[in-house]
Amino acid sequence: MTEKFTFPGDFLWGTASAAHQVEGGNVNSDAWLLEHVAGSPYVEPAGDACDHYHRYPQDIALIAALGFNCYRFSIEWARIEPEEGEFSRAALEHYRRMLAACHDNGLTPIVTYHHFTSPRWFAAKGGWEVLENADYFVRYCERATAHLGDLIGAACTLNEPNVGLLIQQMGYMQPDSVLANAPYRAAAAKAAGSAMFSAFPQCLQAPARDTLLKAHPLAVAAIKAGRGSFPVGLTLALSDHQAVDGGEATRDRMRQAIDDVFLDVTGQDDFVGVQTYTRTRFGAQGILPPEPGVELTQMGYEFWPEALEATMRYTASYSGKPVLVTENGIGTEDDTQRIAYIARALQGVRRCLQDGIHVRGYCYWSIFDNFEWTMGYRPKFGLIAVDRETQKRTLKPSAAWLGAIARANALESVS
Ligand code: BGC
Repeated sequence: MTEKFTFPGDFLWGTASAAHQVEGGNVNSDAWLLEHVAGSPYVEPAGDACDHYHRYPQDIALIAALGFNCYRFSIEWARIEPEEGEFSRAALEHYRRMLAACHDNGLTPIVTYHHFTSPRWFAAKGGWEVLENADYFVRYCERATAHLGDLIGAACTLNEPNVGLLIQQMGYMQPDSVLANAPYRAAAAKAAGSAMFSAFPQCLQAPARDTLLKAHPLAVAAIKAGRGSFPVGLTLALSDHQAVDGGEATRDRMRQAIDDVFLDVTGQDDFVGVQTYTRTRFGAQGILPPEPGVELTQMGYEFWPEALEATMRYTASYSGKPVLVTENGIGTEDDTQRIAYIARALQGVRRCLQDGIHVRGYCYWSIFDNFEWTMGYRPKFGLIAVDRETQKRTLKPSAAWLGAIARANALESVS
């Protein structure tokens, strides 16, 4: 059957980025230091990234011209509080101008307060591994909200506080016992002139989890008590956890430890930010690799766009909250594969809406080919390519294709 499906009138259509991955020159962040330490897992430094720090006016206008009505980006703690307790009015004013540019272009700004990076001084105090350090994050949230809150459209406190746990489980990051003794940790501490240096997400996950769980609800309270009035939520890295051949108990245990424990602290939130890329299959003995011959993305993930529907359904039913897709995307050189991925993922969004699940919007990750953390600039998640020498932006077909869906607020034909 072919028919048109129209999304709710207030549906948010957007695309996402994160400060460190696109701004460039984020020299005071913990990631920047780590990128320059021998033996660190980073294959290259972020450098100028997409120079979005200077080019945001044109970039924001471009996002709007494509047909989107929101833009999710992060503000950079390392710029806003460059030294402990020292807040930069100039940095805050920069983000006020970005927020104003969004409004001028008809985009609802969705602001993430922390997208993986922290100031060096915070990492040198043990970062998220130290429970009391949650207070530093809450104070930063207060100060940023006091300066920016009247212009914020929606806010996410932390980006994927559970991602380290997820990628450890998937085998993409070493267990805490190995991380603790990684020589680059000692080298980073030496470079920072401190006894320790802990940068997210390469931090010890067990202690960091407790700090992040403590920080989120306190940050929500601080943001809601501050300037402005806008929905606040938490974003989570959510894989579609599937059980095969008797893997139910293992799957449920992992889901409890990685997802549910974070969903349990969203009681005061207005939405949960769903960020999904693939599925994870569990057998009785633990995680299973993708089956031989299945289509893989540049990240080595299984091509599985239906994961989004599964994680939206799980999140909505477990938390009872509206969901906002704050990230969904694919790393690929093949833009046709990207369009196929998004098209199938959006059918999942439609089915959720048709079943009465409150989905507030969909943000594609990412607006640009950008700095994909330890993997550097190789994976291509962008709707827009960026020339690394000239910073020239080139639209991929997927940009116009998704922008047209956003503008129409409808899927032209569904079956
Ligand atoms: C993160 C992004 C990252 C994306 C693609 C998410 O885990 O929030 O920063 O670039 O996935 O790997």
